[in-house]
Amino acid sequence: MENLDWSNLSFNARHTKAVVKSVYRDGRWSAPEVSDDFNLHLDIFAGVFHYSNSCFEGLKAFRGADGKVRIFRPDENAKRMASSGAYLDMAYPSEEMFIDMCVTCVKENIDYLPPYGFGASLYIRPVLIGCNPQLGVQSSKEVIFMVMCSPVGLYSTSKGLTPTTAIISRNYDRAAPNGTGRFKLSANYATSLHPYNLAHRLGYGELLYLDSATKTKIDEFGSSNFMAIKGDRYVTPLSNSVLPSITNKSLQQIATDFGLTVEKRPIPVEELAEFDEVNACGTAVVITPIHTIEDRPGLESDVVTASYHFGSPDKCGPVSQKLYERIRGIQNGTEEDPYGWCLVL
Ligand SMILES: Cc1ncc(COP(=O)(O)O)c(C=O)c1O
Repeated sequence: MENLDWSNLSFNARHTKAVVKSVYRDGRWSAPEVSDDFNLHLDIFAGVFHYSNSCFEGLKAFRGADGKVRIFRPDENAKRMASSGAYLDMAYPSEEMFIDMCVTCVKENIDYLPPYGFGASLYIRPVLIGCNPQLGVQSSKEVIFMVMCSPVGLYSTSKGLTPTTAIISRNYDRAAPNGTGRFKLSANYATSLHPYNLAHRLGYGELLYLDSATKTKIDEFGSSNFMAIKGDRYVTPLSNSVLPSITNKSLQQIATDFGLTVEKRPIPVEELAEFDEVNACGTAVVITPIHTIEDRPGLESDVVTASYHFGSPDKCGPVSQKLYERIRGIQNGTEEDPYGWCLVL
């Protein structure tokens, strides 16, 4: 194994020791196979290539201060994959199979699990793809479920969480009003690549989508949920096209425990002017503080029509910082885990 610099890991695909795979064929899953082969040999007519018969998950394993390994809420990811797989009308793993294969993947790749103290973790990526040959637009009868992983950094610097900027997406939608935004389908991410690249070229760190039916309410960022602090309230959008984020769900519980009132409701864009702290939240980074959100008529436009500011451009807001520290403490085993979120190996 190569020598890894645990303090300098980025969010990149890295081949570890092993991947775990199972195939669904003739009505049953094969026994999970541990393999060092990171390539698949697939029929070129497989549905995944043509119609994006595919969904995935993302979760993390952490090495705790006590030396134990913790996987954060894998049961929630299993349930979300079940809902994505059911939407695609494909076979999907049971919760037990999903968790077992994640555990096997972590154990097989244990040398790649970053030690405690670097803020790094082992990112686990379960993927479900349709693989039987087909020409018509159909759900897949044969499916591969595979779990791979990669050591990743936490994006935070020694100074703490680094705030970034965002732009509102006025002329590109992530999900249709009654579409697939609440599922973790691969197709959702293909549609978001172009606007995301435009936002990056303009120098913004994040892209904020609105509800595509009326363009008046906040939905979510490209690959993370939106949450804001307004006085003693934790505000996050209620929308049918937002991915139900496990990080957001956990932060809502922690916020409630801290005595904040959680408001899950439609959020009008203009309310941005009233927020004290705004964050993107998700597994990869937990919390990305947003210090500025700008609005333009379109991502190709030079005109900034509104600019909203939250807190300091170089520091996470105090309430968000507290929420962040609690969730990271639970993941690292330095704080009590009252809800049994972590699967301790
Ligand atoms: C579109 C989108 N929203 C939100 C999230 C955050 O979800 P979670 O906290 O479960 O990682 C993700 C990442 O998985 C995402 O891709």
